[in-house]
Amino acid sequence: MTERSLTDPTLPSACFAAHLPKRLSLRQPAAAYAPSNIALAKYWGKRDYVLNLPLNSSLSISLADWGSHTQIFPAATACDEVWLNGESLPLDSVFTQKIISFLNFFRREQMLPLRVETVNTLPTAAGLASSASGFAALTLALDKAFNLQLSHSVLSMLARFGSGSATRSLWHGFVRWDRGEKQDGSDSFARPLALDWPEFRIAIVPVDTGPKSRSSRDGMNHTVATSPLFQTWPAQAEADCTAVHMALEARDFATLGALSEANALALHATMMAARPALCYLKPQSWSVLEQLWAAREEGHEIYATMDAGANVKLLFLSSEESFVRHNFSTASVIRPFDQP
Ligand code: PMV
Repeated sequence: MTERSLTDPTLPSACFAAHLPKRLSLRQPAAAYAPSNIALAKYWGKRDYVLNLPLNSSLSISLADWGSHTQIFPAATACDEVWLNGESLPLDSVFTQKIISFLNFFRREQMLPLRVETVNTLPTAAGLASSASGFAALTLALDKAFNLQLSHSVLSMLARFGSGSATRSLWHGFVRWDRGEKQDGSDSFARPLALDWPEFRIAIVPVDTGPKSRSSRDGMNHTVATSPLFQTWPAQAEADCTAVHMALEARDFATLGALSEANALALHATMMAARPALCYLKPQSWSVLEQLWAAREEGHEIYATMDAGANVKLLFLSSEESFVRHNFSTASVIRPFDQP
């Protein structure tokens, strides 16, 4: 399904080198915050694995004060140090290795041992992956620490190498990531949409709060490689992204909600058709959906979206907030446009 497959591992370095000075110097410790985000029109499938380029454009809502705070300091020794939520992580952990690989894109050959401290404000009980906010906050903090003064478009493009969804986590509010057309990925970055919608709400209904059974990267690649239903995904997903964007512009919540829910269910259908099948949703996810569909039958305008995990996210307007709090009592309600 890929349009081309690049195997040259030096390409990301070339992409970073185009935007960074030859030598970096750590001017000062630096701190940054980035919110997590949930896609209303999902990214699923890569057109280039090395440059982490998506097959389709996507559009998300950021989760206000649910995100990652990251600080960068010079390391005390010659080794990088990675701290998460106040705990020092072993150098050989998967998490640490991912962070170090990302730091290396910036440092290239330069010896510049760093200490990276991240604190996630996402409640662990929400079971949300934090790679989007984590890599976005890290990218912003590195920009400050090295005094790079790069534009947010460039930072979004660089955050893409950490994780695709991080591309969209540099801003609050609604954000669109255009897939881009260029082979080198230089036009594949996100931008904030000038669209405030103070009444817009998103609620996380926790179903499974443990680590994912399979990473989204793995699940995505397996689906692209083996699912016969994936054939129709890229064109449909692109059309959904355009339609979601138009519904947002029109402040047409019913159309927006219906499109987002259909887009998420189609995404899960591609996974379930993979061989062997991949199913992130659990029986309780389906129960939440049944409850939601019954509420909708009764006239409540509430819609759902789900990612590479079992948790269900509800989309609604402030007029439904008390109904959601009462009927989905475990849900955490987020007001994306409240001042963080
Ligand atoms: O880039 P990743 O590995 O965070 O993948 C994101 C995949 C989905 O959450 C399912 C969709 C999306 O657009 O966020």
